[in-house]
Amino acid sequence: MGTIQLKTPIPGPKSRALGARRESAVPRGLAHATPIYIARSQDAWLEDVDGNRFIDFAGGIGSLNSGHRNPHVIAELEAQLKNQLHTCASVTPYENYIRLAERMNQITPGHFPKKTLLVNTGAEAVENAVKIARAHTGRPAIIAFEDAFHGRTYMTMALTSKTHPYKAGFAPFPSDIYRIPYGYCYRCSYSLKYPTCDVYCARHLEDTFKRMVAAEEVAAVIAEPVLGEGGFVNPPPEFFRILMDICRRHDILFIADEVQSGFGRTGKMFASEHYGIEPDILVSAKSLGGGLPLAAVSGRSEIMDAPGVGALGGTFGGNPLSCAAANAVLDEFENGDLLKRANSIGQQFEKRARDWKARFELIGDARGLGAMRALELVKSPEIREPAPEETKKVSQYCYEHGLITITAGTYGNVIRLLVPLVITDDQFDEGLNVLESALAAVCQKRPVLAGTGTT
Ligand SMILES: Cc1ncc(COP(=O)(O)O)c(C=O)c1O
Repeated sequence: MGTIQLKTPIPGPKSRALGARRESAVPRGLAHATPIYIARSQDAWLEDVDGNRFIDFAGGIGSLNSGHRNPHVIAELEAQLKNQLHTCASVTPYENYIRLAERMNQITPGHFPKKTLLVNTGAEAVENAVKIARAHTGRPAIIAFEDAFHGRTYMTMALTSKTHPYKAGFAPFPSDIYRIPYGYCYRCSYSLKYPTCDVYCARHLEDTFKRMVAAEEVAAVIAEPVLGEGGFVNPPPEFFRILMDICRRHDILFIADEVQSGFGRTGKMFASEHYGIEPDILVSAKSLGGGLPLAAVSGRSEIMDAPGVGALGGTFGGNPLSCAAANAVLDEFENGDLLKRANSIGQQFEKRARDWKARFELIGDARGLGAMRALELVKSPEIREPAPEETKKVSQYCYEHGLITITAGTYGNVIRLLVPLVITDDQFDEGLNVLESALAAVCQKRPVLAGTGTT
């Protein structure tokens, strides 16, 4: 018997009752991808309050690379619970914060002295990275990218690209943010083709200094090494090295936002490693906490020390429970095979996706690094018109058949894979079979490319 077990029509009666309570108690602005309410979770499966069991390809939006209720994380949390819950790191500090900072300084890319600040969320970490970059350089401007997502606070909304639902109606935003195209080859903003383009999108940063903002006004360039909400886009291999060379020439810092691409998702601890870059500041969150809220800002010591005493921090940043969980997550990466697993999951997905792409015209692009994989759906491969309605239908079909998926992309036409890396081969196959049936069902009335193997 497979992992997926649907015992009631979904959502079941208990989930429906909770949905009704939610409607009157919680603002609609908090979206929910599915109307089921979760009672239990383990590894890569979820069980709802009606006893239905699902395979989870969403992993709390990439927060559970080490699995739901990872046993080592739970053991370390239980041990921590017996000692202390909270004192505030800015009042009476504790050892596991320091240990985690030391370990983050070791594992983030870059052979230079580093320091790490712990906060609660990805957005808070990005806010702090910007504060620190401005304090260090004494410059105001930040350059961000088209299709970027950095969070929902004011600075991070300003850095985020997608208008609806993230930005529309919330202006005015903080100033001195400039936006340039990302290395999104499938939808190149310059209509060029890699590699003959010579990665013009990255080289064009020099032009930005002439036409938009003077280089000496720019504190930092911030980028996701693989776009998360923007559609799991991995730029060409040279993209970040070219950008960083330009940054270096102008004493501009490079901030890597690895909130979604970090902690093993791409088959390396951080996606920056795929590109051979050493960011001045690296922001991580999500899977760092193994299911608890935690985020980190790690960077060159002299940069991290720019803000004065008391300028950084917050009541709960780096609380002892989150630090215990994160240290356990790091143990799992050190002692287990999660990175290897991410790569084999990625290979399995790639193999299936290649076959699907040959069979289903709906798939315009199948891409990704390690286990950070995506399918971009289009109305036809020739004109590449995004297919958001079909994408929703694929995701809905999956949900109705016991597989939780989430979408992404500026055009809402990307199915992304954020499965916990502890999923078994059988479970992963079971999930992929549901996804394949979903694609087939949505493509039923569409032309089928009979084994053309189009790329
Ligand atoms: C790349 C990236 N940066 C920042 C954030 C914001 O993180 P949080 O939701 O923890 O504030 C996210 C969240 O999805 C993200 O993917």
